[in-house]
Amino acid sequence: MEFFDVLENRSSIRKYTEEPLTEKEIYCIAAAGLKAPTATNKQEIRITVVKKDDPVQEKIQKDLNPEAQVNFYYDAPVTFYLSAADDFGWSDVDAGIAVENMHLAAKALGLGSVILGCMKKVVNGKKKEEYDKLLCIPEGYSYRIAIAVGHADTEKVPHNIDYDRDVTVK
Ligand SMILES: Cc1cc2nc3c(=O)[nH]c(=O)nc-3n(C[C@H](O)[C@H](O)[C@H](O)COP(=O)(O)O)c2cc1C
Repeated sequence: MEFFDVLENRSSIRKYTEEPLTEKEIYCIAAAGLKAPTATNKQEIRITVVKKDDPVQEKIQKDLNPEAQVNFYYDAPVTFYLSAADDFGWSDVDAGIAVENMHLAAKALGLGSVILGCMKKVVNGKKKEEYDKLLCIPEGYSYRIAIAVGHADTEKVPHNIDYDRDVTVK
């Protein structure tokens, strides 16, 4: 898909089919994250690929909200967890840039995705050490953001923008 078509048609997807991602799709999306720019070219982003049947997904859901009707990853076949170095001041910004690269790459591949921030307080909370192990987060790194990816089972109209309100051309 042409780049500006990706931008025009992108939206967050919260319903997925059962179809898994191919290894090539997983590679392309993770690589898109790693191709993102990082401050001072630190390249401090690490990515853990978690399939939907991995027990860590259910554990996070239980700690987050065991009563929820829909789980936090919307039953997407794959969730990519991004972590970044604790000793670097730009880690959160860099993780945000990387995850958006992945979101756009998923769209370009004909897939749907949604960025996930809602588990942060669980994964980086009092069970952080346990989750660091379960999510293969390297020593000295912390979880920052995640993205669930799969085949969209819904259509969502992209949000409107208000250019005149939000942009000042001086
Ligand atoms: C940092 C960040 C965290 C987000 N966390 C969640 C989340 O935990 N769950 C969710 O369903 N959507 C999450 N979203 C998606 C936003 O809700 C979504 O981008 C917003 O509603 C606009 O919709 P659109 O992406 O379809 O334009 C997150 C987006 C960002 C940028």
